[in-house]
Amino acid sequence: MASLTSLPFLLLLFTALTAFTLTAGDTFRVDLHHRYSDKVRQWAESKGLPATWHPEKAPVGSVEYYKDLIRHDRALLSRRGRSLAATDVYTFAAGNETVRVGTLGNLHYALVTVGTPNQTFLVAMDTGSDLFWLPCNCKQCAPLTSPLYGNLEFSIFKTNESSTSKAISCGSSQCNVPTSVHAACTGTGSDCTYTINYASVNTSSSGFLVEDVLYLAKGDTGADIVQTPIVFGCGEVQTGSFLKSGAPNGLMGLGMDNLSVPTMLAKKGLTSDSFSMCFGADGSGRLNFGDKGSPDQSETPLIVDNYPFYNISLERMVIGNSSTKSSFTALVDSGTSFTILAKQIYQELTTTFTEQVTETQISDANLPFEFCYQFSSGQTKVVLPIVNLTTKGGSQFPVVHPIVYLVSETSQAPIGYCLAVLPSTNINIIGQNFLTGLRIVFDREKMVLGWKKFDCYNSETSTGSPIDKKASAPSPGAQAPSTLFPEATQLPGRKSWAPVLSPSTILSTAFSVFLMVFGIF
Ligand SMILES: *[C@@H]1O[C@H](CO)[C@@H](O)[C@H](O)[C@H]1NC(C)=O
Ligand SMILES: *[C@@H]1O[C@H](CO)[C@@H](O)[C@H](O)[C@H]1NC(C)=O
Ligand SMILES: *[C@@H]1O[C@H](CO)[C@@H](O)[C@H](O)[C@H]1NC(C)=O
Ligand SMILES: *[C@@H]1O[C@H](CO)[C@@H](O)[C@H](O)[C@H]1NC(C)=O
Ligand SMILES: *[C@@H]1O[C@H](CO)[C@@H](O)[C@H](O)[C@H]1NC(C)=O
Ligand SMILES: *[C@@H]1O[C@H](CO)[C@@H](O)[C@H](O)[C@H]1NC(C)=O
Ligand SMILES: *[C@@H]1O[C@H](CO)[C@@H](O)[C@H](O)[C@H]1NC(C)=O
Ligand SMILES: *[C@@H]1O[C@H](CO)[C@@H](O)[C@H](O)[C@H]1NC(C)=O
Repeated sequence: MASLTSLPFLLLLFTALTAFTLTAGDTFRVDLHHRYSDKVRQWAESKGLPATWHPEKAPVGSVEYYKDLIRHDRALLSRRGRSLAATDVYTFAAGNETVRVGTLGNLHYALVTVGTPNQTFLVAMDTGSDLFWLPCNCKQCAPLTSPLYGNLEFSIFKTNESSTSKAISCGSSQCNVPTSVHAACTGTGSDCTYTINYASVNTSSSGFLVEDVLYLAKGDTGADIVQTPIVFGCGEVQTGSFLKSGAPNGLMGLGMDNLSVPTMLAKKGLTSDSFSMCFGADGSGRLNFGDKGSPDQSETPLIVDNYPFYNISLERMVIGNSSTKSSFTALVDSGTSFTILAKQIYQELTTTFTEQVTETQISDANLPFEFCYQFSSGQTKVVLPIVNLTTKGGSQFPVVHPIVYLVSETSQAPIGYCLAVLPSTNINIIGQNFLTGLRIVFDREKMVLGWKKFDCYNSETSTGSPIDKKASAPSPGAQAPSTLFPEATQLPGRKSWAPVLSPSTILSTAFSVFLMVFGIF
């Protein structure tokens, strides 16, 4: 094992959408450079990648900016002649695009519109919990602006400023919520108060339940906006991660209990009891309520007796030309940044993976992951063993992006990579990073989890992102597929968005900022 101590580094999530900027001491600053920023667009153009979008009128990062972006996407999709067959697929009024935001826990966020007059929020999408809450009538909420949010300025929901807002009363059946939410009727007040605790340390939201309208768009035209009353939490007091960089503008629980938005939409008969989330390698994604996926998707049963979690059984893991022995169960949680595995399973994966990589393993207490590997000088290509999870029933769940890259802060050159999994004492969670590159279907009607390789833009037959295709090369021997490191040759030249120097000694501080575990397990 070599040591990295002399090499300051940065972490790069496969397509370099985020850059961390750390200053001395305990404080840190992170620049938000996602796919849609000017800098990233210039960079994409300089790399000859198709320019995605040219921001014109709206200020970068404003709600209008995102709306324009989504209109652009729709135009693009309709030019490609796409149309949705199903008529009962709904998405958010501002569009079905989600964006993975590196500085906000690497989770996927969507623009969610509620209330009269309407207001739009940048809300984290979380399949590990059930309640939808917004920062509301704030007593203790995250700040409305922060370097972590880029140019965005968030709003808070005020119940007295929405004419359609109604408090849920104590006696109402709607106050009869799942035990994980701890709704209660306290003392003299007649409001249905709630408290929900998440797996991230000391992280909670509390307030009272309200009913108000949610704006949804039907089909793929974005027209036909419907307003449907739903119950959500008016989050007066947030604690822990919610006050920093995790879901500062609200969280939408997409679990199976009756308080989650997909459940409410299905109960109303608006959609099928299913929804899909696509997690693009470029950080863009999609969320469609009522989507049951395609007939050719792979599937595995959801464990029925473990309601309300999306809990699946795995028989083994296939890593390169070997496979592990233990079977296990794991939760599928879009609200957890990186995959977490119980000790035994973690050990089997990391050992088998390490046996099959050619780079030297490195250890450094500042690295957020334990299994990291260093490139040899001049290396431009990395050949990784494939990682597949064999699910109950035999379908292979491909882990398209098991690693994150390490990049030198001084030269911007790639210096290595880490297997992006974390150990735990007893729980297995398939987090956001292992879902990337796939469209995942949470079919609660059939009680199956479905998946298919998907870039979130192209037609159903798409098998990967353009970058993947361009980068893939014939695979030597059993170690398929070979992945050319696409950033390798470009990195030194990308001065325009290059992150400012970061002392590696405080990377671990920064890491806690981008690791979120939002589940109620
Ligand atoms: C929200 O309100 C604005 C201003 O009244 C309006 O232009 C817009 O169409 C509304 N959005 C939705 C989704 O209804
Ligand atoms: C709503 O309540 C807040 C205090 O919670 C107050 O500052 C605001 O003025 C109220 N707005 C209206 C329209 O009454
Ligand atoms: C929601 O589910 C809980 C149990 O999880 C049940 O007690 C309650 O009656 C349900 N509420 C409604 C409104 O269906
Ligand atoms: C969590 O809260 C407890 C009690 O308030 C406190 O002692 C502890 O230090 C907190 N932990 C973290 C990681 O903030
Ligand atoms: C939502 O995304 C899908 C692709 O997953 C696309 O076909 C559809 O047109 C999009 N709908 C809207 C309203 O943006
Ligand atoms: C998932 O289901 C298995 C089998 O029923 C159960 O043992 C395990 O505790 C469940 N996982 C969680 C986190 O609830
Ligand atoms: C797997 O591949 C590695 C390296 O390519 C080789 O050393 C090993 O013997 C192979 N294992 C099996 C079971 O074929
Ligand atoms: C891994 O999964 C993919 C996608 O399901 C499949 O095409 C491939 O054959 C699998 N590879 C192995 C070695 O199981």
